[in-house]
Amino acid sequence: MIERAPVATGVPRHVAIIMDGNRRWAHARGLSALEGHRHGMDALERAVDAALSTGIGMLTVYAFSEENWGRERREVFGLFGLAEAFAREKAAALAARGVRVRLIGRRDRLPGGVVEAFRILEERTAAGRAMLLTIAVDYGARTELRDACRALARDVAAGRLAPDDIDEAAIAAQLSTAGLPDPDLVVRTGGELRLSNFLLYQCAYAELWATSDPWPDFNAATLDRAVDAFATRERRYGR
Ligand code: FPP
Repeated sequence: MIERAPVATGVPRHVAIIMDGNRRWAHARGLSALEGHRHGMDALERAVDAALSTGIGMLTVYAFSEENWGRERREVFGLFGLAEAFAREKAAALAARGVRVRLIGRRDRLPGGVVEAFRILEERTAAGRAMLLTIAVDYGARTELRDACRALARDVAAGRLAPDDIDEAAIAAQLSTAGLPDPDLVVRTGGELRLSNFLLYQCAYAELWATSDPWPDFNAATLDRAVDAFATRERRYGR
């Protein structure tokens, strides 16, 4: 068994956010989808600041899912442009706040400029100890689990691992979040109530909180509402 977080509630150690509703926010204002994502980027900065002030140690955000490749090319590559600009322009400010940034998801299909910008961002923020910001880009939980299964199967085939030694910890160690505690709280904006292939294995015991507010409207008060709701939950992990 993996050691679980203490049953006590309070401030969640690890918060995962499904940032949804950018396009509807933009549409309601007669703006393009990309404008919605641009405002979504500002909301991400507010979320990081709010999480730091709240004492949240880990924030994992869903910025681009594998399924998002199905969107119009202009929107997809516009989003990558925003992501690259974020990585290049925010590195100094994030490092100064003690935020360490990590990218998870597939890198092999991303434009080279995005991969390089995030590599530099990861390097420049590596010493950050105040908070770990994990950004999921071209991420899908089922692909992550498939890759974990393949890695374990290779270890078994090579005689490095016995099948009966595959336990929760061995699986978790093969995921892109290896080494991190599971999210305590999943926040979803934009009114939908689903996980959308985000951290499926890791969120087995996460508390869920959703708001109909679209992501570009996210601010410190929204995070307060989520954290307050979390503090009222009794986490029993099935016991
Ligand atoms: C979901 O809203 C949001 C996305 C698909 C993109 C999220 C991206 C950002 C917030 C900015 C990117 C930040 C980085 C650092 C890469 P939606 O487009 O599905 O909106 P809808 O539900 O209204 O259609």
